[in-house]
Amino acid sequence: MRLDKYIAHCTGAGRKEVKRWLHAEQVTVAGTTVKNSGQKITPEQTVLLNGQTLQYPSPRYLMLNKPAGVVCANDDGEHPTVLDCLGDTDTRDLQIAGRLDKDTTGLVLITDDGQWNHKITAPRAAKDKVYWVTTAEPITELCITQFAKGLQLKGESKLTLPATLELIGECEARVTLHEGRYHQVKRMFAACGNHVRRLHRESVAGIVLDAALAPGQFRSLTEAEIAQTLTPNKTITSTDL
Ligand code: URA
Repeated sequence: MRLDKYIAHCTGAGRKEVKRWLHAEQVTVAGTTVKNSGQKITPEQTVLLNGQTLQYPSPRYLMLNKPAGVVCANDDGEHPTVLDCLGDTDTRDLQIAGRLDKDTTGLVLITDDGQWNHKITAPRAAKDKVYWVTTAEPITELCITQFAKGLQLKGESKLTLPATLELIGECEARVTLHEGRYHQVKRMFAACGNHVRRLHRESVAGIVLDAALAPGQFRSLTEAEIAQTLTPNKTITSTDL
């Protein structure tokens, strides 16, 4: 990795400030003063800034309770983004692990660990995603059967994978999907002749949105939650931790 990128990542400082430190001979790599910001460093080399060893921060794994009106994008000229919800957090290198529509609320996972992101979102992983849905029309028995059998979505050749639709009220249900197609829940209800009024994601890959997080709030995942995502589908809640 380039030395300036490494220092920026360890300290949270911007490129300009890092350059200043290097020019002022405040940085050593393996005991030698280095001024060249583009120098490549290896994991075994110790980097000191003003005599202090820099520690590369461990990967970050966050859960956010996404409010309505916020977009799942790294930046957007028009709307606030999920990264804007993270306050002072250094958002460089952060990736969104599975996007929600602007009007959908609930659990969004954010990380700077690209491999972990892939494990959560790759279609082959088929991680469970659980949604609380409120519909415009009553949900019929036929709709429950169609979700279970697989539905033909407009413009797609493959049927949806079998999904669980558990009735909670006349117009309310909990839906569990094992895939993540574009606007999938809304399109599945549309294919049944219904319309989604409200959509809230409760869990992804067994990680349940912490009930203590108000819309717009976030926290780091616990070790148990991170480990959980690496096992086959099984759900844990914050109360299990
Ligand atoms: N399905 C949808 O239709 N929208 C979402 O935001 C997530 C799943």
